[in-house]
Amino acid sequence: MMDEKMKILTIVGARPNFMKVAPIIAAINEHNRRADDAVAETGARAARIQHVLVHTGQHYDEIMSGSFFSDLNLPKPDVHMGVGSGSHAAQTAEIMKKFEEIVMNEKPDAVIVVGDVNSTVACALVTSKIAFDASGKRPVIAHVEAGLRSFDRTMPEEINRIVTDHVSDLLFVTEESGLTNLNREGIPSEKVHFVGNTMIDSLLTFQGKAEASTKLEELGLRTRLGQNGDASKVARYALLTLHRPANVDNRESFENILAGLQELGSDCPIIFPVHPRTRKRIQEFGLDLGASAGTNDSRATQQSASGRGIILVDPVGYLDFLSLMKNAWMVLTDSGGIQEETTCLGIPCVTVRENTERPITVEKGTNILAGTSRDGIREAIRTQSQRKVLAQMPMHWDGKAAARIVDVLLHSWANQRPSLRPVLV
Ligand code: UD1
Ligand code: UDP
Repeated sequence: MMDEKMKILTIVGARPNFMKVAPIIAAINEHNRRADDAVAETGARAARIQHVLVHTGQHYDEIMSGSFFSDLNLPKPDVHMGVGSGSHAAQTAEIMKKFEEIVMNEKPDAVIVVGDVNSTVACALVTSKIAFDASGKRPVIAHVEAGLRSFDRTMPEEINRIVTDHVSDLLFVTEESGLTNLNREGIPSEKVHFVGNTMIDSLLTFQGKAEASTKLEELGLRTRLGQNGDASKVARYALLTLHRPANVDNRESFENILAGLQELGSDCPIIFPVHPRTRKRIQEFGLDLGASAGTNDSRATQQSASGRGIILVDPVGYLDFLSLMKNAWMVLTDSGGIQEETTCLGIPCVTVRENTERPITVEKGTNILAGTSRDGIREAIRTQSQRKVLAQMPMHWDGKAAARIVDVLLHSWANQRPSLRPVLV
């Protein structure tokens, strides 16, 4: 006999959301498979989960959104808001208005938001004030990647993190600093669950598939050797991403960073998949990224084969990016997620920021905080190029974070329905 279903609605919107959500959907599917088996085999009572995927449309280019659905085996969104770009207020408000209608129609038991983008805070805030009936019933708000703090409130993401955490009912933490931060802010410990990192779940799941990527060949970075091409030689290259407004929206800051990369660029090619925000600024500021600045992959191939300077390419898909990270000599970035992925892969990472909300990547991982001055970046690169990397894997970064999250969600749902127990498998 099958009991009532738990209904979960999950939000995605921007590039770093897709790889955090994919393992949660896979864990839900796995739960449902086990529930079906239990019912078929023993007639046991077992609750299924009905899942609804909602895309806000914050990111919309194929290479910032669509490609991740095929790379990560994500289902097509059930609802697409199509909000697109805008100022912080306009984008957040548009998502809020549309999401209120969606959540009232769907009436889920839980809403899952991930990370720190505008889509995250908008949907969490709407859910916190929803009332399905006169009793004020609303969905449980689950925040995946809770508790991270850069302590820099000029970052839009820091505001999004704080607000989202303070309206959430279940807070899923990726590293120990998250526990400390939430405790300091007075969030009751029974709401907080240290489950690990779903972005790392994705990395561990998909790194094998990423071996089939041909991006290195396309960029002239790998040569196949031997008659069957079964051996290969990978060139020494660095991989760069930059998109934080503080780094790229101000001409002087951006130029300082480029100056800090010059020495490295005279030694090896620096592959730079350019985020759309950054592409716009490069054009607007008329920045000269050196003799080797190209904008398409065929020119990039010739440049990287000849071996120098910053090589601009379009953003790349998830599997291609995993392959580029795994084979890089060094990664330079201002991305949040890439600091974590390089720690997991054991690749030296130079973070071009004054702070990080992910201190575990510096304490146990492969990350160095370089700051954003020319000299700071140059020094960090020199240190990383001499360092023998001995990284430790942070606690619970073991590929099982999503399963832990689904387990907590189901228990919290079942605990409110004592008459239905036992409903779990
Ligand atoms: C957003 C997140 C940031 C995250 C980043 C990941 C917020 C406040 N910021 O920053 O935390 O690290 O995504 O990539 O939520 N654009 C396109 N095509 C797209 C998407 C954007 O051309 O598919 C351009 C538009 O000109 C847009 C600009 O990029 O105005 C910025 O996009 P937006 O989503 O506002 O912020 P991001 O910088 O991408
Ligand atoms: N990523 C990607 N292609 C790229 C750059 C990044 O697939 O060209 C992936 C990267 O592996 C990580 C995620 O995007 O999984 C990080 O997203 P981003 O840097 O945009 O956001 P942040 O983590 O800074 O919020």
